[in-house]
Amino acid sequence: MHKNDKDKIYLSPPHIDDAEMKSVRDALSSGWISPFGSFIDNFSEKLSSHFHKKVLLTNSGTSAIHLALKLSKINEGDFVLCSDFSFAATAFPILYQKAVPVFIGSEKDTWNLSPDFLNEAIENLKKNNNIPKALVIAHIYGASAQLDKIVDICKNYNILIIEDAAEALGSSYENKPLGSFGDFGILSFNGNKIVTCSTGGALILPDENTYLHAQKIASQAKEKADYYKHDELGYNYMQSNILAAIGDAQFDKLTSKVIRRREIFNYYLSYFKKKMDVGYQKEYENSFSNRWLSSFIFPKSINEKIKESLKQNKVESRYLWNPLHKQKVFNGCLFFGDPELEEQLFRQGLSLPSGDNLDNEDLYRITDILEKHL
Ligand SMILES: Cc1ncc(COP(=O)(O)O)c(C=O)c1O
Repeated sequence: MHKNDKDKIYLSPPHIDDAEMKSVRDALSSGWISPFGSFIDNFSEKLSSHFHKKVLLTNSGTSAIHLALKLSKINEGDFVLCSDFSFAATAFPILYQKAVPVFIGSEKDTWNLSPDFLNEAIENLKKNNNIPKALVIAHIYGASAQLDKIVDICKNYNILIIEDAAEALGSSYENKPLGSFGDFGILSFNGNKIVTCSTGGALILPDENTYLHAQKIASQAKEKADYYKHDELGYNYMQSNILAAIGDAQFDKLTSKVIRRREIFNYYLSYFKKKMDVGYQKEYENSFSNRWLSSFIFPKSINEKIKESLKQNKVESRYLWNPLHKQKVFNGCLFFGDPELEEQLFRQGLSLPSGDNLDNEDLYRITDILEKHL
């Protein structure tokens, strides 16, 4: 998985240079390799000042969602609304809590959860007295959902919001970072994300007390005592200082990473505009996307051909999300949405290489391959 495997172009490879190497060496030589140390402090403080909220570093984005559900007191049988067009990790933690996911479909512009379907789902559940307790909303591929409408709806029904900003670090709505609008927000720093720690995540929290509680249950729920005392269920969800060292160095380069990802998206878009009508993910008004993955919707007739040609020429591309309500693991869950729209996104969509270490030669190579099909 290295950019220097010159002949292969990956979808979103890690972009590591001397700064990360130095950070990791410093972490190792400090002797602090557990979930404590200066890099945990520095990285979480940088994130806290970015979000203007307390931030806890975790060992993955998935564990951060699980913690958010725990802290929201989501338990067995509770109804939790969830983006349907997303990665399964958005919804898996709902099952960890034995709660009931209710999937909400996308709107056609941002491909994110539709406020209209959200309203429809809530009204429908209400009829059977099943008022949902929380919503897990993902900002797919870095693009903001229609947050003003979604926040209003949730306020109206007293539904907690967990914002899955796993893909959206560096994106914003009305100049406020995505991840800071919900009662909780989460980030992922896994290997393909815009900022990576190799694996890792973060939980964005509403206040100091909730932060202290999150920190406790993420580290095996040890009570303050000079012996082992556990009054509630705990998890081993903290991030190590070594991984935080990578993230800390990466985060300093966030602005240039976002600029490059947006340049890559705009390169593809202007290329397609000269060729044919290709669908793309719109930025919601007053929002700004990090363009984590450049994703497009191609005519049915050529989508498969493009994917195959790219593969044969050692260029990775990826289908868009296969809607969650269709997955066997979520069999029987309710879905409110437009199945045709999501099917079209899944069947005709492709994410193209988007890593911020792609150079212009890589981009020309990709569009030369596409050229044959457009
Ligand atoms: C939308 C979304 N949610 C959650 C996750 C889970 O994050 P992680 O892989 O760090 O557990 C990811 C990434 O994998 C993601 O893309």
